[in-house]
Amino acid sequence: MDAAEKEEISVEDEAVDKNIFKDCSKIAFYRRQKQQLSKKSTYRALLDSVTEGKESTRFQIINEAAKVPLLAEVYGIEGNIFRLKINEETPLKPRYEVPDVLTSKPGTVRLISCSGDTGSLVLANGKGDLKCHITANPFKIDLVSEEEVVMSINSLGQLYFEQLQIPPKQRATKENEEDTSDDTTQENQEELGLWEEKFRNFVDVKDNGPASIGLDFSLHGFEHVYGIPQHAESHQLKNTSDGDAYRLYNLDVYGYKIHDKMGIYGSVPYLLAHKLGRTLGIFWLNASETLVEINTEPAVKYALTQTGPVVAKQKVRSQTDVHWMSESGIIDVFLLTGPTPSDVFKQYSYLTGTQAMPPLFSLGYHQCRWNYEDEHDVKAVDAGFDEHDIPYDVMWLDIEHTEGKRYFTWDKKRFPNPKRMQELLRSKKRKLVVISDPHIKIDPDYLVYAKAKEQGFFVRNHEGGDFEGVCWPGLSSYLDFTSPKVREWYSSLFAFSVYQGSTDILYIWNDMNEPSVFRGPELTMQKNAIHHGNWEHRELHNIYGFYQQMATAEGLIQRSKGKERPFVLTRSFFAGSQKYGAVWTGDNTAEWSYLKISIPMLLTLSVTGISFCGADVGGFIGNPEAELLVRWYQAGAYQPFFRGHATKNTKRREPWLFGEEHTRLIQEAIRERYTLLPYWYSLFYSAHVASQPVMRPLWVEFPDELETFGVEDEYMLGSALLVHPVTEPKATVVDVFLPGSSEVWYDSKTFAHWEGACTVKIPVALDTIPVFQRGGSVVPIKTTIGRSTGCMTDSPYGLWVALSTKGSAVGEFYLDDGHSFQYLHQKQFLHRKFSFASGVLINSCADKRGHYPSKCVVEQILVLGLKKQPSSVTSHSPDGKAQPVAFTYCAKTSTLTLEKFSLNIGADWKVQIQ
Ligand code: NOJ
Repeated sequence: MDAAEKEEISVEDEAVDKNIFKDCSKIAFYRRQKQQLSKKSTYRALLDSVTEGKESTRFQIINEAAKVPLLAEVYGIEGNIFRLKINEETPLKPRYEVPDVLTSKPGTVRLISCSGDTGSLVLANGKGDLKCHITANPFKIDLVSEEEVVMSINSLGQLYFEQLQIPPKQRATKENEEDTSDDTTQENQEELGLWEEKFRNFVDVKDNGPASIGLDFSLHGFEHVYGIPQHAESHQLKNTSDGDAYRLYNLDVYGYKIHDKMGIYGSVPYLLAHKLGRTLGIFWLNASETLVEINTEPAVKYALTQTGPVVAKQKVRSQTDVHWMSESGIIDVFLLTGPTPSDVFKQYSYLTGTQAMPPLFSLGYHQCRWNYEDEHDVKAVDAGFDEHDIPYDVMWLDIEHTEGKRYFTWDKKRFPNPKRMQELLRSKKRKLVVISDPHIKIDPDYLVYAKAKEQGFFVRNHEGGDFEGVCWPGLSSYLDFTSPKVREWYSSLFAFSVYQGSTDILYIWNDMNEPSVFRGPELTMQKNAIHHGNWEHRELHNIYGFYQQMATAEGLIQRSKGKERPFVLTRSFFAGSQKYGAVWTGDNTAEWSYLKISIPMLLTLSVTGISFCGADVGGFIGNPEAELLVRWYQAGAYQPFFRGHATKNTKRREPWLFGEEHTRLIQEAIRERYTLLPYWYSLFYSAHVASQPVMRPLWVEFPDELETFGVEDEYMLGSALLVHPVTEPKATVVDVFLPGSSEVWYDSKTFAHWEGACTVKIPVALDTIPVFQRGGSVVPIKTTIGRSTGCMTDSPYGLWVALSTKGSAVGEFYLDDGHSFQYLHQKQFLHRKFSFASGVLINSCADKRGHYPSKCVVEQILVLGLKKQPSSVTSHSPDGKAQPVAFTYCAKTSTLTLEKFSLNIGADWKVQIQ
C-alpha cells in the first residue's frame, strides 16, 4: 500500500466523523458577529451624503463603533431587480468582489428619488410600482411593491462590517511600540480569532485580519423559503434558531449525514421565498465561507396584545428573517422581486445565466463505477447492456484509468488502446466520460505538472511556494483556476492533439474540486493559500470548483473549434455553474433515506438555476439490496442527470446482476427514460432559453395553493408530469397528492384519472413508478427505443394528449441535431406546438426562426380523457389531403389510440376527431 492509498482509506474512515468539520461554534467570524450584535450598536444612513450617479444612488452609513463610514450603493437592475452594495469607502486594500459569475454587467435602470419624510429617501423604478424606502436612523431599507412592504433590510439591526485594519505587529512598529493592545485579553483574542484561528491541529494565520460582513432580511408574510444549496436537507428551509445555521462552505464529505445543515460540495448563495401572490429571491454574491440563519414566525391569526387597560385582538402576519454572514468580501446582494416563481427564475438567470443546453446523449443513462478495471471490463459491461436489451449512452472511467492518478494519461496496462475502446463505444453511438481532478501529482516527469510548475500555474501557499497537499495521487499541487491564463492553458489540454488517446466521444468529469485536500483543515485548502491577483483562498473558496468546470467546458468547446456542445459533470459548484454543465450530489449512501433525500436536494438545486442535476443511482457507498436498487433506478429515470455509480470495494451492481426479475424492472425504468427523451430535451430547451427549471417543486407549478408549498416527496417534470417515486421498502401503496382544484390527472400507465386537490392512495407493486400526466398537456415521446439516444434519431414519435376538464391540451416539442451549436448560430432547430381543442389536434410552428429537417413521423397518438367514442378520425396533411385514421377507443378508460399514423413531426397538420 503506498502513501496515497493509505491516505485514501483513512479519508474514507474519517470522513464520516463530523469532528473533522466545523459547526458554527467553531467558526470565529460567527462568534464575533454574535458577540458584537448583542451589543446592539446601530447604523444610520447619512442622507445628506446622497449622490446620484449614472448607475447607482450612493450614500454613507455609519455606526458608533465604525471609525469611518461605509458606502452604500443602490442600483435598479433591468427586470425588477435591486442591487445593494456596501463596502468600505476607502478600505486599506481592495476587498474581494466576486468576478465571472454575472453573465455580463447587468443593465441598470435609473432609479428616481422621491423625497420621503424627513430622515428617509425613496428610490422608485421607472414605473413607480417598486420602491426602496430608505430610513436613515436606524438604517433600514424597505422594499415596497405596489404599496406593500415585502422585505425589510437591516430592520433587525444585524448589519455587520469589519473594516480592514493594519496588523497589530505593524501597528506596533508604526506607533513606535506604543501600547496597541485593545481591551481584549489573550483568551478573548483566541475566541475572536481576529488574526489567527485554531481548529484541531490547524492554525489559520490571517494576514488581513477580521473582515467579516453580515446583514438581515425580513420577509413579510413569508413562511416558506427555499434554496441555498447544497445541504442534505429538506427542500423547504428549516428554522435555525435552535441549532446550527446553514453553512455554505464547499467540502468533501464522504457519506454526508442527512438532515444536516453542514456545508457539502457546492454552494449557491441564493434563497427564494414564496407566499400566495409573491415570490422573491435574495442572491448574496459572496464566495467566502457563508452562514445563513433562518427564523420563521408562522402567522398567528389572533394575538392578544395589551394596549392600556384594553385587551385587543390583533392579526400577526407571518415573517421569515434571513441573516447572512460571510467571512470576507463585500456586501453585494441582489433582490429579485418576482412577482411569480417564473419571474424570479428569469431574474436570477438574467444575472447568472441559464442552464447550458446539454448534448442529447447526456440525457440518456450513464454507467459509472469506481472503477471499471480495464478495457476488457468496459467491453464486457457494454456488451451486457446489449445482451439484456437495456439502453445506455455513456460509459464512465474513474481515477484508476490513469497512470498513477495523473489526469490526461492512461494506465497502459489497463487501457492499452483507449482509441480502440472509444471506437467500440462509437459503433453503438455511445460516449465515454473520464475523470479529471484539479490536483496535479507532483512529479517533474509528468508533463502537466512540469508545464504548470514552470509557468507558475499552481495555487501558492502562505509562504509563497506552490501549495502542496495530499489527494489521490499522493502529494499534489492544485491548479489555480481563478487565473484566466491558467484556465486558458487548462482548456488547451483537452485538444485532441494534446490529450493523447482522446477522441470526440470523450467527455469530462471534474471531481474533488471543493478542493479536496486530504490533510487540510476540514479536508480542504488552507484559507491563507494565495491565488491569482494575490487573493487569499478564503475570499473565493466557494468558487474554485466553478472555475474548473468553466475551463473544462471551454476546453471541450475549443477542441471542436467551437462547434460541439460540451458535457462536464462537476461535484463542486457555485451560482452560475449551470452555464457549464451538470452537477451531482456526491458521495451518498445505499440506504432508503438517501434515495428519499435525493428528491429535495435536487429540487433545491433546480430552483437555484441548476437544472442538470442528479444523485448517484443505487447510492455510492455500500451495497443496495435489489429492491432499493430497482426503486433507485425508477426514481433516477425521472431525475435530470441519470447515472449509476458505486464506490470501490462495493459489490458489482450492473443492472443484470440481481436476477431476471430485477433486471427486467431496471430495464423497464431505463426504457421509460428513453421513451420520454423528447420531453426531457424539450424541457432542457425551455430551461436554456426561458430559465424554467426542468424538475419543479409543486409550489412552482401551483403557486396559489398553500398545500403544495411544503411538498417534497413528489414533484413536476416540466408542467405536464407529476412524479412520486417510491422511496420506502416493501411499499404496497403510496399517498399521492394531486394538486389543483380545477385540474384532472391521469395515471400514465393505467390511464385512471382523478380530479385535483386530493390525495389518492395508489397501489404499487415493484414495477410501479407513480407518474401522472396533468390534464391539458401534450407530452412528446419516442415509440421505439434503441440501444442509445444516438440510435434513436430516426425512430418515430408519439404524443400523449391528456385532456383538461375543458377538453383541451397544449404542449411543445423541441428538436435539433442534439450535439452542435448550430441551433444557436444557424437556427437549425425545430420548435413545434401541439394544441388540442374542440376535437382538433393541431401541430404548428412555435418559433418561425428555426428550421431543422427531420424525417421522423408521429406514428401514435394517445388521447386521454376523451369522454365519447368518436365516429371518425381524419388527418389533414400539409398539402390539404384529408385521410381517415384508424383508431381504437376504450370506453372504460376514456382513451383513444391512433395507430398506423404517419405525419412528419415538423410539418403543419391537424387531426380531427368527430
Ligand atoms: C469522489 C467522488 O465523489 C466519487 O464519485 C468518485 O468515485 C471518487 N471521488 C473517486 O474518484
